[in-house]
Order: sequence, then C-alpha cells, then structure tokens
Amino acid sequence: MQIQPPIINIFEKAVRKAGKLLLRDFGEIENLQIQSKNIGDFVTNADLKTEKILLETLQYYYPNSTYITEESGKIKGSDEEIIVIDPIDGTTNFIHGIPLVGIVLGKVCNGEITDGVIFNPILNEFYWASKGKGAWCNNKRLRVSKRQDFVNCLIGSGLPQINRTYPKYLEEIDNVSRDCSGIRSIGAAAINLAYVAAGKLDGYWERNLNLWDVSAGILLVREAGGRVTLPNGNEWTIDSPDILASNILIHEVIQKKLKTN
Ligand code: IPD
Ligand code: CA
Ligand code: CA
Repeated sequence: MQIQPPIINIFEKAVRKAGKLLLRDFGEIENLQIQSKNIGDFVTNADLKTEKILLETLQYYYPNSTYITEESGKIKGSDEEIIVIDPIDGTTNFIHGIPLVGIVLGKVCNGEITDGVIFNPILNEFYWASKGKGAWCNNKRLRVSKRQDFVNCLIGSGLPQINRTYPKYLEEIDNVSRDCSGIRSIGAAAINLAYVAAGKLDGYWERNLNLWDVSAGILLVREAGGRVTLPNGNEWTIDSPDILASNILIHEVIQKKLKTN
C-alpha cells in the first residue's frame, strides 16, 4: 500500500467532512422529504454548502493558493499553486437519487495536474492520485483495462443536455457504438474517468467540460497507466474543454471514430 502524500491527507480530510453533509442531503432526497419543485433550490444549496466546507478546510492549510471553483469562481492567490474544486460532480444524478456523484479536488502546478481526489460519499469510494505515486481507490491500486479488441470494450461518454449540445454528436455516438460492447453515459465526468482508471470502462470521451470536472480524473487515468488527450489526439491542456481518455490500447481506434469533428 502506498502512503498518501500530505496534500492527499488534507484533501481527504476536506472531502470526508463535506461528504457527511452530502450523504445526509442525498438521504433527504431519497426519502422524498423534498417537494419536487424545491429540489432545484435544495441541490443548489447542497452545492454551495459543500463547497463552503471544502474551502474552509483547504484555505486553513493552503491560505495562499489560488482556488478555481465551480460555485465561488476564482479566488486569486499564488499563481504557482492552484486548487480546483467541484463540490458535486453529477448534480443531476444527485437530484434523481442516483448514487454516481463525486466531490472533486485537484491541484495544478505550472499547468500540470499533480494531485487529485474524487470522493463518492454515497458509495464510500475514495479515489486519489499523485504524480508518480499511482492511482488508488480505498487503498487498492488502480490499473486501466487490458482490453484491446474494440468489440469487447465499454466506452463512457457524456450526452448533450439543455444548452449544452454540439454538432455531429449523434455521428460520434454512431461511429463509436457500432463496433464496441456499448456506451455508458454515467452523468459525472469525474466518475467516468475514475472508471477508466479502475479498468471498468475502457475509454471515455466528452466535450464541453470544465477543468473542475476532470482535474483529478485525468491524473487518475494517467497514474493507472492510461492516456488522456483531446479527441483528435492532440495534447490535452488545462484550458481544453474536450477530452479523450483510454487504456492506451484503444486510444487511436476511438480517435479515428471521432474524426468527424
Ligand atoms: C456535469 C457532469 C456531467 C457532464 C457535464 C458536467 P456537474 O457536472 O460532469 O457528467 O456531462 O458536462 O457539467 O454539473 O454535475 O457538476
Ligand atoms: Ca458541480
Ligand atoms: Ca462537474
């Protein structure tokens, strides 16, 4: 078992504390104590409260860092150390009582993701990765799958939604799905990437994402032996909204199938 680096210990402290609140809120939704018309406000509130807890813990230990957060925007600090926060990735799943959600924290130094965690408080899955130290889930080392024949591969993707659609997505889905075992739209970018790292999914692509959706997940995939690029195979950078992640072996196969865009 790999000893967790200090920053991962602090990230873990923050996400476990925030996770308690999220777990309670998830229970409320499941028990239907919330009227459906109030669910939107309730969840927005859950996002805000979760982020507040994360920031309180993180800013205590890293008062000088820059924070890029989904709910509070950018909190300017040192340019050298950036902490990226998505308090709930998979909000729509959360609203619908589907337990595929993650609290996501990532650290970026000089444009490179160096550390990250994803915590699913509902399934009690704690994923972490640090550069050069591997990718882990609940103390178990993660490795990408070894599947090479595309026909046996399961591929994740995000389907467009209101105000977030893009041309030719049906063509992409058609091209990928016709030769593989299936496509899964899990509804949380972070969980898709964690599943590629864990070898459950063999590949994953999505467009129109933000850095907070993918920061930790990208490092997990890389540290688990996988590859992350843009869908066209070019280098992914922290400003890129589009992503292709895989077990390496099928990377170019998916890349070719996405060439329509
Ligand atoms: C969303 C999820 C979803 C993806 C969306 C993201 P949110 O994040 O990651 O899977 O398709 O593009 O915005 O809103 O649940 O934090
Ligand atoms: Ca979110
Ligand atoms: Ca997100």
